[in-house]
Amino acid sequence: MHILAVTQYTHSQLDQLFTRADELRNYSSPKQRKELAELHKGRQLCSLFYEPSTRTRLSFEAAAVKLGMGVVSTENAREFSSAAKGETIEDTIRVLDAYNFDIIVLRHHETGAAARAAKVSQTPIINAGDGKGEHPTQALLDAYTIYRQFGRLDNLHIVMGGDLANGRTVRSLAQLLSSYPNNRITFVSMPELQIGEDIKDVLKASKTAFQETIDMSSAFKTADIVYWTRLQKERLADPSTLPTDGFVLDPEILTHLPAHAIIMHPLPRVDEISPLTDSDPRAKYFEQAGNGLYVRMALLDQIISKRII
Ligand code: NCD
Repeated sequence: MHILAVTQYTHSQLDQLFTRADELRNYSSPKQRKELAELHKGRQLCSLFYEPSTRTRLSFEAAAVKLGMGVVSTENAREFSSAAKGETIEDTIRVLDAYNFDIIVLRHHETGAAARAAKVSQTPIINAGDGKGEHPTQALLDAYTIYRQFGRLDNLHIVMGGDLANGRTVRSLAQLLSSYPNNRITFVSMPELQIGEDIKDVLKASKTAFQETIDMSSAFKTADIVYWTRLQKERLADPSTLPTDGFVLDPEILTHLPAHAIIMHPLPRVDEISPLTDSDPRAKYFEQAGNGLYVRMALLDQIISKRII
């Protein structure tokens, strides 16, 4: 079973994943942690990252280690693997496949790279971000964070802002939320960085209401969730051509946000959320990152437990 896109998850699979994440977060005493570290002893994860990462790579690797798995990893495969010599992702995966890992976690700079890898791999591939494409496991942990806060994934107004054209997290989360009834999405961004037509088509097909605007304060007034993202400078030919002001979350703009709402961000945050916002009780981005560990433990556990050897 490869994990390439959020749309492959059914609602009941999401429920099971979240239940397992809840169980795993309760293994906290030294005795329980030791017990957990016996669970998948003798299994191995390979993490193959062609793009920078802190949370995704380290939470996957920490998740594997906590479940007793061994980890083999390359953190800058674009420079340090044979990709630098011109090897294709397909050939690299064919070789890793022969090393008999239980799971390969792949982050790549090209959209569709994870799907290409999966085509030649017997080993389950987890897409940890493919260019401007998808970041399904981020959407899973985002949804888990929303579920823990609201107890539901439907009937929500989500304001998504920042670089919606080049960021993959919003693309995955918008698709996931569009599969639940009565969600409404407001995309806040400068027109040059608005959400792609392909995502709008998914929303239209699922009859999820959405709008595009540059007006942050009026979007915030009825929001349950504000999901903010950074400018993806590494994906822009010339970031200096874009105006840098505006679209910053700070205490002043957040006066428009209801008290029950939460503020999320996949991180890393650069300057689009003022550090003054961190003490706002609605700011959940660090908690959200922490949830990533348990969702990824649950994911690895599910993949390994179902695998027949
Ligand atoms: C995101 C990514 O890599 O797409 N980071 C992450 O995994 N939390 C967001 C980003 O880099 O802006």
